[in-house]
Amino acid sequence: MKANILFVDDDPNVVNGLRRMLHSFKKEWNLFYALSGQEALEIISKESIDVIVTDLRMPGMSGAQLLYEIQKKNPEIIRITLSGYSEEEMSIQSSRYAHQSLCKPTSPEKIKSTIEKAFGFRKYLKNESLIKLVNKIEKLPSLPDIYLRLEKEMSSANISLSNIDNIISKDPVITAKVIQLSNSAFFGLPVRITDINRAVNYLGINIIKNLVLTINLFRLLDTNNPNTKFYTQIWNHSNKVAEIVRKICVLEGYPKAIKDDAFLAGLLHDIGKLILIDEFDDYFKNVLEIMESEQIPFHEAEKKLLHADHTELGAYLLGIWGLPDSIVEAVALHHNNDFAFDLANPSPALIIKTANEIANEGTIATDDITEDIIREVLKTKQMLNN
Ligand SMILES: [Fe+2]
Ligand SMILES: [Fe+2]
Repeated sequence: MKANILFVDDDPNVVNGLRRMLHSFKKEWNLFYALSGQEALEIISKESIDVIVTDLRMPGMSGAQLLYEIQKKNPEIIRITLSGYSEEEMSIQSSRYAHQSLCKPTSPEKIKSTIEKAFGFRKYLKNESLIKLVNKIEKLPSLPDIYLRLEKEMSSANISLSNIDNIISKDPVITAKVIQLSNSAFFGLPVRITDINRAVNYLGINIIKNLVLTINLFRLLDTNNPNTKFYTQIWNHSNKVAEIVRKICVLEGYPKAIKDDAFLAGLLHDIGKLILIDEFDDYFKNVLEIMESEQIPFHEAEKKLLHADHTELGAYLLGIWGLPDSIVEAVALHHNNDFAFDLANPSPALIIKTANEIANEGTIATDDITEDIIREVLKTKQMLNN
C-alpha cells in the first residue's frame, strides 16, 4: 500500500516547489499539500496520513502547535519539521513535538530518505497500538539528581563542557536527546555523531542550555513515584553496561568509532523499559511475576505480557528520533541469540549483548568488574562459539 505524506507550508511558492520536486515520487507515495495548519488538520480528518512534514513559522496555527495537536489526536503519524536556518531556535523548541527536523532548502532525495527511513522502523515494532504509544512520547523521565547537577553546572559562572559531558553521559534520556539533536538533518552535518563529548562540543553551551533548561524536554521523576525503584535500577544498570562496554573495548583494542557506538548503545539499550514503566501500571511487577513463575528471561516475560519487548520499543523510538542505524540495531538485537560471537569483527550489538550478560551475572559492582573477569567471560563465549 502507498504511504500518504502531507506537506504543510504557508508559502505557496514553497508548496509549488515541493510539488515539482516530489512529482517523481508519485508512484511510491500519495502526496497531499496544505497551506495552513487548519487545512492540514482538515486533510488529516479525512485521509489516513502516515507522515507529516511541516514548516514551523506560519500565521495562525504555528508548525509546533500543529504538531502538538497531531501528537495528541493522531499519534500514528510520524512528525517531521522543515524550516529555515534562521529558525534554529524554533526548530530546537519544536523537538518536543517533532520526531525529526529537516532544513530548507533540502533535496528531494533527503526528504525521501528521511521519510522512508522513519517509516521503515516499523520493522522493529509491528503492534499498531504500541507504535502510537511510542510516536506520542513527548518527554521521558530523568533522575532528579543528575538533572539538578546539570542545571547547577549550566547556571554556574564558569561552565565547563567536560563537566556537562560527564553529567549528561550518566543519563540515557538526556544523552538520547543530545545525540538526536546533533545528528538532526537540520544541522546538516556530513558525519554521524555517536561520541557524547563530540555531540556536546558540537552543539555548544547555548543549545544544550536551551535543550535542558528552557524547552523542558525531560520529566523529573517525583520521589513519590511508586516506580522510582525500577527507574533507578534501569539507570544504574545502563551505566554499568556502558562501563563494561568501555572496558571490553579497551581490552580488545577496538577503534574509537566502535567504542563510541558501543558505549552509546550500552547506555541506551534498555530505554524501551522506561517507556513501558511510564505507560503501563505495575509493568515491572507483572513482568517479574511472569519471569519468576515461568523461569524465563525478562524480555521473554515481556513478550508474554505485551507481544513485544523493550528491545523493539527502544529500537523503534531511537529510529524515529533519527539516531544512527548502528545504535538502533544494537538496541534491537541486545537479547538476540542468533548472531555469531565474533570478537574479531565486533558489532556494537555484540558488545552490548556481552556487556549486558556480564552486568546481569550476580551482584558484582561495576568497579569490581576487573579485566580478568571480562577476559574470562569473553574466553568462555569464544570457546562456546567454536
Ligand atoms: Fe535489555
Ligand atoms: Fe540490559
